[in-house]
Amino acid sequence: MTTPNSGETYDFVVVANRLPVDSVTQPDGSVGWRMSPGGLVAALEPLMKASDGAWVGWPGAPDVELAPFEHEGIRMVPIALNAGEIENYYEGFSNDTLWPLYHDVIAQPSYHREWWETYVDVNRRFADATARIADIGATVWVHDYQLQLVPGMLREARPDLTIGFFNHIPFPAYGIFSQLPWRQQIISGLLGADVIGFQRVADAGNFARAVRRLFGYETKGTRIWVPVGDSSDADTGTRSHVRGAPVRRVVARAFPISIDATSYIELAKDPAIQARARQIREELGNPKTIMLGVDRLDYTKGIGHRLKAFGELLADGRLTVDDVTLVQVASPSRERVASYMQLRDEIELTVGRINGDYGSIGHTAINYLHQGYPREEMVALYLAADIMLVTALRDGMNLVAKEYVATRADLGGVLVLSEFAGASDDLRQALLINPHDIEGVKDAIMQAIEMPQSEGRRRMRALRKRVIENDVVKWSRVFLDELQNSTTVHPVSHEHPDART
Ligand code: G6P
Repeated sequence: MTTPNSGETYDFVVVANRLPVDSVTQPDGSVGWRMSPGGLVAALEPLMKASDGAWVGWPGAPDVELAPFEHEGIRMVPIALNAGEIENYYEGFSNDTLWPLYHDVIAQPSYHREWWETYVDVNRRFADATARIADIGATVWVHDYQLQLVPGMLREARPDLTIGFFNHIPFPAYGIFSQLPWRQQIISGLLGADVIGFQRVADAGNFARAVRRLFGYETKGTRIWVPVGDSSDADTGTRSHVRGAPVRRVVARAFPISIDATSYIELAKDPAIQARARQIREELGNPKTIMLGVDRLDYTKGIGHRLKAFGELLADGRLTVDDVTLVQVASPSRERVASYMQLRDEIELTVGRINGDYGSIGHTAINYLHQGYPREEMVALYLAADIMLVTALRDGMNLVAKEYVATRADLGGVLVLSEFAGASDDLRQALLINPHDIEGVKDAIMQAIEMPQSEGRRRMRALRKRVIENDVVKWSRVFLDELQNSTTVHPVSHEHPDART
């Protein structure tokens, strides 16, 4: 067992690939930090400030060797990655192996043994740093697919810790997951946690099935019984649970993540942002309908399918650029990974063709913006948009859909939402679509354009109720309550699981 450092230890440690801060160069040339605006930070910030919390993560650039520092009351513990590690662990194994595999192989995953080795090394570095700073009996919350080995490594080094893990992206069906040459090590790493959270009920089910198929452990509902001492050293073949052997109970269930709804509602009330929304409409030539897409430029988002549907509606004459314009924000992402470079070329070719074929001097069909924007500008865009298009082919949750809904206190706007985004489990009053069905997407766009105001308002009211009631603060509370219960109510036992149901 690793012993924590004397002095600098924390009761609550969040471990994520990225630190929740961006570096900013001040006017005098010095480098400072600014909190990045993600929902996770918003949810955890109050908790971390109140509970002596630390955040372990990568600062986002190569070779940044930094001592731990304090930012807005949170202890930041930076993990340095060199250029080779970024290539193998971040761009390679995380985003060219796991990302396409977990998103149902929309793009072909690459399997490289060197990438895997670096993934293990970097996960070890995160686990070691965490083991050193976590207080005795601390709670550690590990996030996402980049760090799936950390729970197992931590349990081995520090059995005193309470360990949670949350997977922000989908977890695939076993038929897909089983492609992974290191499938047992990944499951074994995750089983080091006391609670494993997923976005959708189906993801948790896929995980439990993988556990049964690969290890033969008992599972029942959301519970999995892991033989003690067996969780972090996977070898080949399945094992059966031995009656009477000590077992540790792991919970694997859905905790659908949400947004910091209050801050979006507040921004949407800001007169300057409302004025900016009016200005956007004017700058676009006051079209009857503004459609909006907001995504990272990622092949999971179905941007091409959306463009195809819009292009065909223009070609069919069901829409004209005089009446309708599409604003597509595609923020740059993972630009050194080949599949992302290829996607960018494809999307930009399609945008150019559609604009060339259907645009006029005064009206552009698609306003394509390959840029990232601050929250204020995003909210102004949401307020300006009559229709929000979320056409993901596979998406853990899709928070853009929830952000759009949160900002529309005026009950205006229609959400078109892919049933392959986790958000569709909750947002049933959206116009739900199958993005592969281009005719269906076209019809949904027309239905959104022609929707009577009363129906739009009724749908938006119901959607807002869901998003406001289930915000990210509630999400983190529900997860952490489950984590606390899991360790206080069900310690390691020798009983057979069936005896406890
Ligand atoms: C998804 C993942 C996150 C990731 C984010 C941005 O939402 O679940 O873990 O941070 O994409 O991707 P990036 O590669 O820039 O961190």
